[in-house]
Amino acid sequence: MPPSEETPATLDAEQALDLLRAGTIEIEGRLVDASNTTLYCSLSCDGVTTACVYKPVRGERPLWDFPDGTLAEREVAAYVVSAALGWDVVPPTVLRDGPLGEGMVQLWIDGDETVDLARLIRVDVPPLRRMVVFDAVVNNADRKGGHLIPTPAGHVYGVDHGVSFHQQDKLRTVLWGWAGDPLPEEAVDALSALRALLEGTLDDELSALLTRREVVAVRRRVDRLLTSRRYPEPSGEWPAIPWPPF
Ligand SMILES: Nc1ncnc2c1ncn2[C@@H]1O[C@H](COP(=O)(O)OP(=O)(O)O)[C@@H](O)[C@H]1O
Ligand SMILES: [Mg+2]
Repeated sequence: MPPSEETPATLDAEQALDLLRAGTIEIEGRLVDASNTTLYCSLSCDGVTTACVYKPVRGERPLWDFPDGTLAEREVAAYVVSAALGWDVVPPTVLRDGPLGEGMVQLWIDGDETVDLARLIRVDVPPLRRMVVFDAVVNNADRKGGHLIPTPAGHVYGVDHGVSFHQQDKLRTVLWGWAGDPLPEEAVDALSALRALLEGTLDDELSALLTRREVVAVRRRVDRLLTSRRYPEPSGEWPAIPWPPF
């Protein structure tokens, strides 16, 4: 019997994580000619087949400004924070062994390719507002237009979080449309819940992936957002927009 095709929309997060952890990965192609190895793969388990992105650690090029840990661990830490916020910003992502050794494996999202990303970054919709708060928490240094995956159902996922979590402020994004605006109540509530989790289980989970100083910096950024209750503004000390922006 041919394997059934399941789209990510039919998998809940737990099912997706199980599949990502246990599925057989087969490399189908290299995604982009980027500085790191980013592979498009099929992922199958118990007759279910879907697609994933696999970034093996050994394909990572060292970065002068991110000396600690691996990009794959930062990508998984970004998923952990996204899951804790409850906003589904990052597709389910795990750290596991694969055909080219340990790496990050992330559920592939079938994006809506008719969406104009240059327009999308200026649209005022909840998934983007939430992503801005998420980026401020993880200190994302690379939120380009191409790292947004809009779905046909109207959700927007964010991908490529390898250069996040630096202990120094490095927020670099194309999503400055809300800079300085008051945070909505749902953001304050989600950040307060995140802050509480950082006193317990979330601290443990992040400590397995990041350095101590980086985990402390997450807490500091959450506290800062809860004090200002505003979307972040460009610092003036660091290029505020990634280059190229898409
Ligand atoms: N989980 C995903 N689902 C769908 N598309 C993705 C996913 N991850 C990456 N992509 C697409 O592949 C491109 C390259 O992936 P990215 O994570 O940015 O890799 P790199 O580290 O090589 O820049 C992204 O810009 C995006 O278009
Ligand atoms: Mg990228």
